[in-house]
Amino acid sequence: MNDQHDPIRPGALPKTIVLVGLMGAGKSCIGRRLAARLDVPFIDADNEIEKAAGLTIAEIFEKYGEVSFREGERRVMNRLLHATPCVLASGGGAFMDPDTRKLIKENATSLWLRAELDTLVARTKGRGHRPLLNSGDPREKLQELMNVRYPVYAEADVAVDTGMDNPNVTTSRALDALEKHFGAPLATVP
Ligand code: S3P
Repeated sequence: MNDQHDPIRPGALPKTIVLVGLMGAGKSCIGRRLAARLDVPFIDADNEIEKAAGLTIAEIFEKYGEVSFREGERRVMNRLLHATPCVLASGGGAFMDPDTRKLIKENATSLWLRAELDTLVARTKGRGHRPLLNSGDPREKLQELMNVRYPVYAEADVAVDTGMDNPNVTTSRALDALEKHFGAPLATVP
């Protein structure tokens, strides 16, 4: 840590923190806790896409297809990344889109929640709202996505391992990693 830097005060985040990671990594769960500790708003990009479209993600995929969904996602991410700094949970595919990734790199600090396959399988099991996991074997699909996406997620500014541990433990780990990245103490609320 570099004590030449002033502490970052609660509510005074210099840039948005974007959580990146596969479905089931815990982006919303950890993001909500991180936002509370930093005293900034938490925003879930998938919810914002659903609000803007007036449809669920599953309905957007079904009616208009994935390409259309990605366009909407890009527009919503662009809007959110130019608004007040917050903690923003992105959908698992957002960082894979070159334009959205560029936007994140230019306007935010990205934090990859890196999870193993068993964690992702356990956390997504029995939940039908993710179109990419609704056909075929979810474990195989998640493994395929890990192979393609993890090398790109690795471009995130910060990586934090997450497993089946208590979310508060992962949140503290994320705060430590962010402090190291910023080179400044992060003052948090309990
Ligand atoms: C997707 C992840 C989902 C959602 C959509 C596509 C993906 O978000 O954006 O179903 O491509 O990985 P979560 O990662 O929040 O589940």
